[in-house]
Amino acid sequence: MKIAFFDSGIGGLSVLAEALQRFSGAEFLYFADEDHVPYGTKSRTEIVRLSLDAVGFLVARGAEAIVVACNTATSAAISELRGAFSVPVIGMEPAVKLAADSFGARPTLLIATPLTIAGEKLARLVGRLECETWSLPLPRLVEFAQDLEFDSPAVRAYLQGELGKFELARLGSLVLGCTHFNYFKDVLREILPPHVRIIDGIGGTLNRLASELGGGLKLARGEDLLSRKVKFNVDGLDVSGGQNARGKSRQCEGSDESCGGEQGAEEYDGDGGKIYYPNDNSVEYFYSGRALDAEQLRKVEIFLKRLDAMREID
Ligand code: DGL
Repeated sequence: MKIAFFDSGIGGLSVLAEALQRFSGAEFLYFADEDHVPYGTKSRTEIVRLSLDAVGFLVARGAEAIVVACNTATSAAISELRGAFSVPVIGMEPAVKLAADSFGARPTLLIATPLTIAGEKLARLVGRLECETWSLPLPRLVEFAQDLEFDSPAVRAYLQGELGKFELARLGSLVLGCTHFNYFKDVLREILPPHVRIIDGIGGTLNRLASELGGGLKLARGEDLLSRKVKFNVDGLDVSGGQNARGKSRQCEGSDESCGGEQGAEEYDGDGGKIYYPNDNSVEYFYSGRALDAEQLRKVEIFLKRLDAMREID
């Protein structure tokens, strides 16, 4: 079964990384709208248009279910997406309810993009909670992630400055309301008092996906999970391509810089770089509708590796 994940950029890989652990025998597609990231500072109308384009592309590639692995696109466009496509569309919301249910005796701090924080969807969600909920937009964190800057002095200074505006000792939890923020869990952990739990919406989103698809998605068995040790092995990266492989052919369009270098070209599957993972899963990656070249695929494996390490931090 083909299941597609869509985000403005590399943030949704945090949801994909978890799905690769949990499920087996799935054909995943991943679409990062790298030409238009960030979404969080754009208008709602623009995000609706971009999301419709992205999901249209994925449905045309055979996606039978869509996970909008982006809180911002969910906030802006989920109704339009559900109206436009007949496949199930699973959205992603900041896990403030989970935070309130688990640690609600103390305030929750939600960090997200400006659009998510200003959205009506969030206002409705928070309005139903008894728990005191503070919110903080962190648009620069999306830029840091896209620039592959995860734990630099500038990232630390930004987070210390922004989080320092709150009485952190009073908090019960910090909610990651943007999938890009999963890359920074180690730095956030250093800054937050030890009792503050870090919560994301990934588990809830994948539970929804599994229940929506019923038996369509197999859970990985215990022995499959053991194979996670060999996952995200950048050196052993298999980019040999699947049924769509066309040898060395390359898809280069206009000013696509990713097609410029020759390095690794022989490993590139010109009709969608498809990577095979343990648990019998595979992923085809696209940046705004273009298949990734070998160098970009290697970078994706590095992101997944980092995200795998971040999964242990709460
Ligand atoms: N990763 C996205 C989210 O979960 C948004 C990042 C952006 O493009 O601003 O909200």
